[in-house]
Amino acid sequence: MKFANVFMSIVVGSALIAAAMIVNSFRPAAVTQQPTPAFVRATGKCAECHSKTQYSIVHEFELSVHASKSVTCLDCHSEREGQTGQEHYGFTINPHVTAANCRACHEQEYQQFLRSRHAAPAWAAVAGKDDFSVEQIAFSERFQPGGTDRAANGLALIEGSSAIASGCASCHTIGKPNPDGTIGTCTACHTRHTSSVEVARLPSTCGQCHMGPDHSQLEIYSESKHGVMFEAQHDQLNLAASPKSLTTKDMFIPTCATCHMSGINGLAVTHEPSERLSYYLFAEITKERPNFARAQANMQAVCLNCHTQPLVDRVYSQGAAVVQTTNEKIAAVKAIMDTLRADGILTGASFATPIEFDYFDLWHYYGRTAKHGAFMGGADFVQWHGNYPILKHSVEIEHEAQQLRSEHAAPEN
Ligand code: HEC
Ligand code: HEC
Ligand code: HEC
Ligand code: HEC
Ligand code: HEC
Ligand code: HEC
Ligand code: HEC
Ligand code: HEC
Repeated sequence: MKFANVFMSIVVGSALIAAAMIVNSFRPAAVTQQPTPAFVRATGKCAECHSKTQYSIVHEFELSVHASKSVTCLDCHSEREGQTGQEHYGFTINPHVTAANCRACHEQEYQQFLRSRHAAPAWAAVAGKDDFSVEQIAFSERFQPGGTDRAANGLALIEGSSAIASGCASCHTIGKPNPDGTIGTCTACHTRHTSSVEVARLPSTCGQCHMGPDHSQLEIYSESKHGVMFEAQHDQLNLAASPKSLTTKDMFIPTCATCHMSGINGLAVTHEPSERLSYYLFAEITKERPNFARAQANMQAVCLNCHTQPLVDRVYSQGAAVVQTTNEKIAAVKAIMDTLRADGILTGASFATPIEFDYFDLWHYYGRTAKHGAFMGGADFVQWHGNYPILKHSVEIEHEAQQLRSEHAAPEN
């Protein structure tokens, strides 16, 4: 009897355990295996290992507002919709944190970012539209016409994949589509573990990408009065002030972020810089943007926190004049190039003849630089990196065109 009872209870007990195991196997792994964020917080499990091997990553995280608000490693490194987790020392983690992980808590910023040229257009500028879904293209085109619905960049194709991977893509990846269905990376400006507004407000952060002969914004800023004052007084600025209550007492000198993104003295923060831009300055021939008047009003509202209207009007009218005359200068040379093609003197693929590089440099380096310089206080860039080489290249291209014509006309022997 006794033996039978013991036997029965073993059978029942095992059946219960087995049943529990079967039930558990139907529950998601995240629930049964995954220690919760609260557990991570309480034990510091991730940090325990990683501070030994990657001290700086854990340290950067500890400096963040996230750490002070009890956001944990797992809050970012958990898998979100469209992502696959992997087993990792008793946890399930997603090593590849994308905008999908940030949007879980910052949807508003993600939506603004999606409408901007930092999202899909930035990647399409290099790789064309092929990496995007039909919906992603349609969405971006509503806000940035012509930005995403285009072919891969011809120059990039000629230079080849290794040049693209370590060159173009390193900057333009800011808008690359992610396998989980989101677009882009938030950490280009916020870094991966500090997630800080202080870093995002530094000119050098934007200048990682916004530099060099084709978009010399960092260099222009450095020579402008704003850049000079930032250099002299940045210690006195409160660069970490919360965006929700930022005033000119915190930031009495503007950085790139102040003019293009910040919400200062009650203005709203935006992750869509085109809200404040009235021209397509980067274009070969600059046109007004669809939101021209509103964009000027928005940007001037920023200037007017620190300046009077007459000063701002002067900058804008001088800028508009530089846009107009640069357009005229480029258009005159463009006409020469177009006629060479129309007359069959230039044939075949682009970037095959030296004169084409001279023309590309003309608008892509010097034309842009003159226009950007005029709006952001870069006198040397309007003149010696802008108008002077525009003049020199115009004369040279005219001369080369004549030579090509006479070579073309000469009888072959
Ligand atoms: C027992 C030690 C240990 C613990 C606990 C641990 N890790 Fe790791 N982790 C490692 C080691 C070692 C590596 C190096 C790659 C490997 O061996 O998987 C690594 C790699 C990583 C990587 C890079 C993976 C890749 O494929 O690029 C991430 C991200 C990461 N860990 C995050 C976390 C997070 C988040 C936690 C907490 C939920 C955590 N780790 C807990 C030891 C640990
Ligand atoms: C704000 C979100 C966020 C938080 C919080 C966060 N990470 Fe990360 N982590 C990232 C991002 C983004 C990457 C880069 C992913 C990629 O390259 O695909 C990353 C990458 C890593 C890597 C690989 C880094 C390398 O350079 O090889 C490790 C290791 C890691 N995280 C550990 C941790 C640990 C440990 C914690 C907590 C102390 C933590 N992370 C908290 C966003 C976060
Ligand atoms: C689990 C939710 C959560 C996730 C995931 C998350 N954040 Fe945050 N984030 C917060 C909270 C909470 C704050 C503090 C908000 C406040 O104080 O108003 C914050 C603040 C910030 C700030 C402002 C910091 C400052 O210096 O004032 C930035 C920037 C930021 N997050 C970026 C990111 C980025 C980028 C990612 C993805 C790599 C991310 N966050 C992922 C919850 C999250
Ligand atoms: C150092 C970072 C960096 C590199 C490298 C880089 N770009 Fe850009 N690119 C930018 C920035 C920043 C802008 C925005 C300029 C502006 O708006 O004034 C831009 C603008 C552009 C534009 C004009 C905007 C548009 O949407 O049409 C094109 C096209 C472009 N890049 C293509 C390329 C190609 C192709 C390569 C490689 C052959 C490349 N870029 C390499 C940073 C970079
Ligand atoms: C081009 C650079 C850039 C990119 C990319 C970027 N941010 Fe920001 N972000 C900033 C700047 C600059 C600020 C601070 C604005 C200010 O000075 O008030 C900021 C502020 C924030 C804040 C604080 C906002 C507030 O009102 O408190 C959050 C949260 C944030 N970003 C999240 C994100 C997320 C999520 C993404 C990706 C979808 C992202 N950021 C991409 C530059 C960027
Ligand atoms: C990782 C590289 C990268 C960083 C960092 C970056 N940008 Fe950009 N930015 C780009 C690229 C690429 C474009 C061109 C997108 C296009 O038009 O194709 C661009 C375009 C812009 C534009 C023009 C948008 C338009 O509508 O034409 C502005 C303004 C701008 N960025 C401001 C900033 C500011 C301010 C910061 C720093 C807070 C910053 N960017 C940081 C890569 C970057
Ligand atoms: C004092 C305010 C101010 C500062 C500081 C500033 N900008 Fe600008 N930026 C402007 C104005 C104004 C324009 C032209 C606006 C228009 O088109 O109406 C402009 C134009 C641009 C454009 C041109 C977009 C196009 O159409 O080609 C980019 C990119 C840009 N700025 C990036 C930056 C970066 C990066 C920095 C810092 C290194 C910076 N800006 C600093 C005011 C500023
Ligand atoms: C956060 C405050 C702030 C913002 C915003 C700001 N500026 Fe300034 N600006 C300054 C300061 C400070 C100086 C140096 C003032 C001085 O010398 O008295 C300055 C100097 C200038 C100068 C040089 C004046 C001279 O003759 O030396 C010009 C031009 C200028 N700003 C134009 C602009 C324009 C245009 C905008 C908007 C697109 C703008 N600023 C936005 C603070 C700002």
